[in-house]
Amino acid sequence: MSVLPEGDPLTIPQLVAAKGREKIAMMTAYDAPAAALLDAAGIDVLLVGDSVEMAVYGEPNTLTATMDSMIRHARAVSRAAKRAIVVGDMPFLSYQAEPARAVENAGRFLAEGGCSAVKVEGGRRVLPAVEAILAADIPVMGHVGLTPQSYRKLGGFKVQGREAGSARQILEDAQALAQAGCFAIVLECVPEALAAEITQQVEVPTIGIGAGGECDGQVLVFHDVVGLTRDLRPRFVRRYADLSTAIEEAARAFRRDVKSGNFPSADESFHARKATTLRRVH
Ligand code: KIV
Repeated sequence: MSVLPEGDPLTIPQLVAAKGREKIAMMTAYDAPAAALLDAAGIDVLLVGDSVEMAVYGEPNTLTATMDSMIRHARAVSRAAKRAIVVGDMPFLSYQAEPARAVENAGRFLAEGGCSAVKVEGGRRVLPAVEAILAADIPVMGHVGLTPQSYRKLGGFKVQGREAGSARQILEDAQALAQAGCFAIVLECVPEALAAEITQQVEVPTIGIGAGGECDGQVLVFHDVVGLTRDLRPRFVRRYADLSTAIEEAARAFRRDVKSGNFPSADESFHARKATTLRRVH
């Protein structure tokens, strides 16, 4: 029997129990129509990622995400998801300054956004916030390796943990998060061997993005998977559809039909019940 059954809403304990038994499929979702499709397709976890800033709003990084905007996206996704676990991504500066603020903001994702959990970027340096959120009974997903909110400090969106020293730091960060009680940990852009080591060492599922095939699950950004991002194509992305081309072709066909008068047809127009002549008003 599947550890992550189809049909009923999934729970956090079921996701934890999937480690080593069934791979976890996670994808970002930012709106209700996409969330409904991904949920129907059996995606186990929908991440309302702060990557919405880049994928949807065209920003160069994720630092512009705000709590209010993330909650609005989270609510749309939660309303559409019937089975998947919905995780809200805590935006930049919503959890770093003070644990009490972190709890309030995490709580908003559950109370207002309808999420089951939140995700927090960083390892031991964000433990006070993680521990405070967990103490409020709010499940937390960790995120180590390339943490995009730190990209200024990291000097860009670069693979992390290639050297022995930095690899050890990332491993220790993941262990600290797991010991604190995080139910899963995202490993972003780290060497495959390091991800495999972390996956072996921690008791909770690891979800990789650019972290090789040994993780307990995989996550990708929706817009990358369906081919809505044309210019940017990181090597860890597998594109399963080419919606950019499909959408551009549809728009060209619509334009053609409008310009030529081919749209709308009589069938696509409303008609009066009886032949009625509207009297001209002078
Ligand atoms: O915001 C996001 O999309 C993420 C994933 C890359 C894990 O954090």
